[in-house]
Amino acid sequence: MKGLILSGGKGTRLYPLTFTSAKQLIPVANKPVLFRVIESIRDAGITEIGIVVGDTADEIKAAVRTGHRWGVNITYIPQEAPLGLAHAVKISRDFLGDDRFVMFLGDNVIEGGITPLIRQFADSEWNSQIVLTPVPQPEQYGVAELDENGRIVRLIEKPKVPPSNLALVGIYMFDEHIWEAVEAIRPSWRGELEITDAIQWLVSNGYQVYPYIHQGWWIDTGRPGDMLEANSMVLAELKPHIEGYVDRDSEVDSRVTIEKGAEIINSVVRGPTIIGQNTRIVNAYIGPFTSISHDCVVKDSEVERSIVLSHSTIENLPARVQDSLIGRHVVLKRSPIRPKALKLTLGDYSNLGLL
Ligand code: TTP
Repeated sequence: MKGLILSGGKGTRLYPLTFTSAKQLIPVANKPVLFRVIESIRDAGITEIGIVVGDTADEIKAAVRTGHRWGVNITYIPQEAPLGLAHAVKISRDFLGDDRFVMFLGDNVIEGGITPLIRQFADSEWNSQIVLTPVPQPEQYGVAELDENGRIVRLIEKPKVPPSNLALVGIYMFDEHIWEAVEAIRPSWRGELEITDAIQWLVSNGYQVYPYIHQGWWIDTGRPGDMLEANSMVLAELKPHIEGYVDRDSEVDSRVTIEKGAEIINSVVRGPTIIGQNTRIVNAYIGPFTSISHDCVVKDSEVERSIVLSHSTIENLPARVQDSLIGRHVVLKRSPIRPKALKLTLGDYSNLGLL
């Protein structure tokens, strides 16, 4: 089997972070979501992986390179514009050939691995298998209807009256019959070739499409709140270790990871939390469910349930930073210079919640 990861798209819901960088490279627990996806495909025994890339191709290639570090071979497949998930499949035909493959959205995070579902599909005669998970509000998702034999008979996007509570997770498995399907379908009202239409085509043309019901958590990291949620979930599963320096005046609990070269001085750090390489935490409080990336400084400030990307500084703040997503090279400081006013340099689409 081969793997196909979709890492194009625009990531508009994560502006301004994704103006300048790929959303799949935003880290949760200090590791990019895309790296987690590559690892889960590799752990399922797949070594040939294609990555569909768009405007952020250069950044993704610079981060992932050949894939040798994970023991896999990466092939990059350029997509001229985000014309839909089925379009991304269509342009990957040369890479995939007639092999069975798993397709994984590059911005999704799933609990546990995908090994059991890959095994089930590889051992089956089915033409396609779609990962579904029970959700509390199926009206907000793509939902599957199953027949009495457990086969998928219909897929409906955001149904007003959902036929089940089983939503599509961003993981799909196909055999070579998907090529007929992606050729047969036409763009939807939003101008995209929809993967749900391609799957519906398979079902309507008598192919065997079965679900795999995933019981753990699954997060599509489309919006900032989802990133924070995924970060919390992954941190809770992380095996903690301390490689950096913690001084005697600091209090660091057993669920905290401190990476190499990091320093914790006169501070309280509550886990699950991760402090990245060469980051300095001084006279500060870092609360649970926080990921501070490498080369940051947090001084005389408090941060909780947040993600702070690399090379950022948070200093001398009068209020706690909470539920926040902070980009790279950000400076967040209380300034002693008068007049006492907010002095801001914010990128387009920034979102600032003041006290
Ligand atoms: P989406 O979250 O549907 O789209 P997006 O990344 O453009 O985000 P937004 O809605 O915030 O603008 O995409 C899911 C994943 O699939 C994501 O990793 C991007 C990728 N993708 C492609 O590679 N090609 C495409 O044509 C589309 C639509 C998405």
